[in-house]
Amino acid sequence: MSTRTMHLTGGIDVGNGYVKGVIRNAEIELFDKIDLPSAVASTSRTSPKVPIPDADAAAVLSVTDTDGDFYNNLHCTLTTPLVAASDRRIFGRAALHVRASKFTEFEVLGQHSKVDQELTKVLILGIFAAKALRDHVTTHGTLPTEELRVRVRAGLALPIREFVARRHAYAAEFTGTPGSADPVVHLVTIKNFSTPVSVRLEFVDVRVIAEGASAQFAISDKGEPLAELLLADLRQREPGALENITAADLVAARNTIGVDVGEGTVNFPVFTDTQFNSEAAATLDEGYGTVLLNAMERMNDADKNLRFASRKQLADFLQHEPSPMQQNRHKNAGGYVFDEARYLVASIVSAFGDVLSQAGATTEAVYVYGGGSGPIKELLYPALLTAAGDIPVLYLDASYSRHLNREGLYLAARTAEVAAGDAVETEPGEQPSKTGKTQRVAV
Ligand SMILES: Nc1ncnc2c1ncn2[C@@H]1O[C@H](COP(=O)(O)OP(=O)(O)OP(=O)(O)O)[C@@H](O)[C@H]1O
Ligand SMILES: [Mg+2]
Repeated sequence: MSTRTMHLTGGIDVGNGYVKGVIRNAEIELFDKIDLPSAVASTSRTSPKVPIPDADAAAVLSVTDTDGDFYNNLHCTLTTPLVAASDRRIFGRAALHVRASKFTEFEVLGQHSKVDQELTKVLILGIFAAKALRDHVTTHGTLPTEELRVRVRAGLALPIREFVARRHAYAAEFTGTPGSADPVVHLVTIKNFSTPVSVRLEFVDVRVIAEGASAQFAISDKGEPLAELLLADLRQREPGALENITAADLVAARNTIGVDVGEGTVNFPVFTDTQFNSEAAATLDEGYGTVLLNAMERMNDADKNLRFASRKQLADFLQHEPSPMQQNRHKNAGGYVFDEARYLVASIVSAFGDVLSQAGATTEAVYVYGGGSGPIKELLYPALLTAAGDIPVLYLDASYSRHLNREGLYLAARTAEVAAGDAVETEPGEQPSKTGKTQRVAV
């Protein structure tokens, strides 16, 4: 079977908590949306105990699997200059439940750099390889008999502080030095099936954008329909708010501040006259995960009924409706988290004040987004309204605002592709960022 080189274009937002991604395969017009815990389990055993029979590949990698479950159960080894050991890695949700020699997730306490952590690169390479395999099997119905070759265009994010100092070096780790005769090749071997599959990735272009700034691009791209929704939401909460401001005014804003509340960081991207302003922008080294971790430690010390093994377990417990037997514990745990959230909100408001004074009086709007913004809305929203004074604060719903960064990153990769002139023609109606639909839809 001949395997032509495949072309993938994707935006991958590797968060401290979750990886959010969208990847397009233009030849078969197939988008995958990806959302998995930023976690990997490693084992020196090279293959799974019970690999999936090859004949089941089509069912496992099926086009109807819109939850992207395969990304949450990918097993692979990597041969690349970016990753030292060639252990087998198990990705995402499966990594949370497997017995392995080593479990890796991002630390949310203390200084940490995404650029220097292998986990970032393992996740990015594995995800592109998994997408390639899914698309091959969707097209051909079976696993490939030879190595898959893939040319990748990617949009990647870095926290604002790392972005300023490290963006060029980070991109070059994937692409190799510009002008060099030998491209860097990353080989991912997928081990889920009886027959291992090799995927050779070559990055032709990597755009690096500051976290939060990419979300702002997505907001601008969505234009007036999103602005209308935000204004309607605001006016429902506060009748008469921003009476003289229209959706068109919001879209036309040239000076904005974003507040991207994540798991381990809060990023404050600033746009001055529509340009990203790295002088005024800032990163705070705390996020909602820090709140969970601190609350968990206090509970472990104070209450033997409230013992949680990990911050993810606690988040999960709080996100679900409690059964009557759990109600008391749910309420008590919520109390601890609420207490800790007050400290985070105080830090955010203080950092926001600094950013606001740096950005100057020209600021026209403040946008709040990111997964961590949802659970602390009750505290953060009123505090930011007070701190922002006359400037409108638009608080986006966390269920979709978690995904804005990935959409902005995809837009960057896609724009570069179109500019380079090697883009595969876009079908009419294909606008994932505008419709918000990035489902896997065969055309
Ligand atoms: N539907 C959801 N799924 C997962 N997490 C959610 C959801 N809603 C809220 N959260 C909370 O959002 C936080 C993760 O937010 P987000 O995905 O924006 O962070 P991140 O991008 O991984 O982190 P960072 O920006 O610091 O690198 C978690 O602490 C989680 O508890
Ligand atoms: Mg984030």
